[in-house]
Amino acid sequence: MPRVVVLGASTTDMNMRLGELPRAGETRLGSGFFMAPGGKGANQAVAARRAGADVTFLTAFGDDELSRKVIEHDHAEGIDLTYAKIVPGGTCGVALILVDGAGRNLIGIDPGANLQLTPEDIDALPDSVFQAGSILLASLEVPIPVVVRAIGRAKRSGMTVVLNPAPAVDRSQLVEILRLVDVLTPNEDETRLLIPPEVVEATRAKFASTPEDEAWRETIVYAEMLVRHGSPCVLTTLGEHGCALIEPSTAEVHVVFYIPAIQVEAIDTVGAGDAFNGAFAAALAEGKNVVQSASWANAAAALSVLKPGAQGGLAARDAIELMLHEHPTPGFDPT
Ligand code: ATP
Ligand code: RIB
Repeated sequence: MPRVVVLGASTTDMNMRLGELPRAGETRLGSGFFMAPGGKGANQAVAARRAGADVTFLTAFGDDELSRKVIEHDHAEGIDLTYAKIVPGGTCGVALILVDGAGRNLIGIDPGANLQLTPEDIDALPDSVFQAGSILLASLEVPIPVVVRAIGRAKRSGMTVVLNPAPAVDRSQLVEILRLVDVLTPNEDETRLLIPPEVVEATRAKFASTPEDEAWRETIVYAEMLVRHGSPCVLTTLGEHGCALIEPSTAEVHVVFYIPAIQVEAIDTVGAGDAFNGAFAAALAEGKNVVQSASWANAAAALSVLKPGAQGGLAARDAIELMLHEHPTPGFDPT
């Protein structure tokens, strides 16, 4: 069975809808409060599992009631938590998520036990966790030194590494690993933050008159620059515009492949990136190439925005296949 090792945070998400998001100092009434498992790592683990992979999840829990509920949930999903850390006296990560009428969100996170993961925890894992042929999928809600250590170990073992550099950090924090990552999957903001600021300034000016709904074209230019500045392969997600893959072909020429989003009535886009990343890693693990895996992920992510909550819309394999069959998304070079 294809195998994905996910490294990232587990949280409990506290979700609420409001007509408009409050500004600083403002209080607004909302509705529809619900609590559900979340965290980028956990969402990606569940997405990869439902897409058909065996998933080993490297994360940290506290020993509180919220952590116990999340652990129970992950077990019910069939996720292997053998190597997850339980921090005595620690608390479960919590995310407060507000979603407005237009689907925009505002998120605050207390990472709790997730911050207690250490590079030494990665050193202590048995070699069997890092198997050649499987995929390491990592995100950045756990300490970056932990991610760096895991990527180093995965590469030495012959694994393929996918890094979702979320939440956004600046380039200096990732510079030592960008070259080791096989596929980097930033969203639009993350793409911009990962290239030198002077390059962004120069490019911004060229796109000054571009209408807002064409801004994704500017992101593709930034993603290409990210490849020029040392990332082997960038798959940038463009929200309702889909995604674009940039791979070096020769030193100067890069292949740009754009896959439009599948048109759906989105009701909640929280976790769309996680749905994308989990499905992408599962597809790579079963031997699909990068373009096929990106199309598959694009379909899984379109399904994910149809239901509330980060994990509510994570799709099972059959549903992803049906979505792709009904909405084939042939990509093209938009440049
Ligand atoms: P989040 O932080 O909310 O998890 P993100 O910013 O990491 O999301 P996005 O780039 O917004 O990620 O979206 C990820 C993928 O989800 C897109 O590449 C696309 O495939 C899909 N997607 C997002 N929004 C929509 C939408 N409105 N309709 C269809 N597909 C969508
Ligand atoms: O990517 C979505 C996730 O980000 C949510 O589940 C929330 O936990 C935040 O970390």
